[in-house]
Order: sequence, then C-alpha cells, then structure tokens
Amino acid sequence: MGEEPKTFPANWDAALYDAKHSFVWERGTDVLALLAPQPEERILDLGCGTGHLTARIAAAGAHVVGLDSSEEMIAEARRNFPELEFVVGDAQDFQFDKPFDAVFSNAALHWVRQPERAAYCICEALTPGGRFVAEMGGEGNIERVLEGVRRARVAIGSPVEEGFNPWYFPTIGEYASLLETQGFDVTLALLFDRPTPLEEGEAGLRNWIRMFGASFCADLELKKQEEFFFVVEQQLRKELFREGQWRLDYRRLRVMARRVD
Ligand code: BEZ
Repeated sequence: MGEEPKTFPANWDAALYDAKHSFVWERGTDVLALLAPQPEERILDLGCGTGHLTARIAAAGAHVVGLDSSEEMIAEARRNFPELEFVVGDAQDFQFDKPFDAVFSNAALHWVRQPERAAYCICEALTPGGRFVAEMGGEGNIERVLEGVRRARVAIGSPVEEGFNPWYFPTIGEYASLLETQGFDVTLALLFDRPTPLEEGEAGLRNWIRMFGASFCADLELKKQEEFFFVVEQQLRKELFREGQWRLDYRRLRVMARRVD
C-alpha cells in the first residue's frame, strides 16, 4: 500500500516566510479575537508556522501548543519563542494525551489533502463542548492568480493539467457539512473577500509564487521559469497591480464550531 498523502509542501524557507510574508499572521488578528483565548485555557495552534500567533495566544495567559508539519517552521518558531511549546506533527494525523479547550488555525487548513481526517483529529483533540476557530482560503480564493498561472503556462508552451490547483478552498456549505459529519456544531461561517497586498513592490508576485506556489514552476528550467514569471506578471498586472504593489485576490473562509458533547 502506498504512503498516505501528507500535508504539503514538505520544505519551507521559514526565514523568508518571516521576513517577507508576515502578513500571514499579521492578518490573523480578527480570527484571534474570535478565539478570545482565556487565562489557563489549554489551546492548540494548528499549522502554527513560525509561532507568532501562538505567542499572542500565550500572551492572553493560555497554555498553548503550536503544531506544524514543517520541521523548518517549528525550528524557527522555537528560535522566535523558546519559552513556548512547539511540536512537529501532521494536521491530518495527530493526537494528544490531554484534551484542549480550543483548537485554533490560521491560513493552514487549505494545505491539507484530507480535510475530513484533519476535522476528525481536531474533534478528538477537544474536550466535549470545546471550540474550533479557524480561517483558511475559501471557495474562489486567488482565482485570478490561478487563472494567470494557467494562462502563462499555456503561453510559454508548458500547459498545466486541468484542476492543477493544489489547495483546498471549500465553500461554506461543503466545510460546514464536513465539520458536522465529524462531530461539530457549526456556530459561525463566513466567506469574504480580503484583497491582500504583498511586500517588495514589483517582485512581490514572484516572491509569493516562490514561497507558496513553487509547484507552479518546479518542473521548468531556470530560463523557462524566468519566462513564466514575466508572463504571469504580464497576465495579472492590469487586475492585481496598483500603485507599485501587488494585491492578491484572497478570499477567506472563517468558521467557529463546537464539539458536540
Ligand atoms: C492563503 O492563505 O489563502 C494561501 C496562501 C498561500 C497559498 C494559497 C493560499
């Protein structure tokens, strides 16, 4: 039997993530407010990355554990916040001896390949009545970027297969049903546009692709990759580049749910 697919990608450049993509956790403030961590609560930060939101949860007085599938991210999180607890683990296949009052997740669950398994593990990790608060890419997220990538690949003579989007961007209906099936009551679900400005001006889009969408050009030789970046930028400039900055068409799915007793 083949190995079960894991959360991807396997390798992250955690320092680059911290240096140039801090918007990922900086934009997590609202969902953190929804979590409203309380002193002494036991909270899991699922897909914690380099630990910045984990630290904000800890600052509220909660006992927090950060979990991420990337060893690079966890190493950086430990360097950033040596006083906090971080573990390497797969969002689709984890368990803890002691249950949590809440599981929190920001910008991570669209990376999982088997969302129903992740929801199962989250539910099992909670105390009865415990809450799950998450934000991720929702249906329609970065649709223009994906279309630009598709068109650029055609233009350089290396078309990608239909359905090449590697991420999970569900609708409210799809994700709420999945959570219900795994033992949750869904108490809030929102899908909303959140245009997201990137750092580094002109270079922002190619930096973003190198960081998050490396699979879009990993099969291309260096010269062809340059051609690819040039054409993607051409394709998307009119819609997504304003006043010297790329603004990606992010769409967020925000949910709050409780484990049924
Ligand atoms: C997101 O946060 O929506 C996202 C980030 C990287 C790749 C795809 C989606």
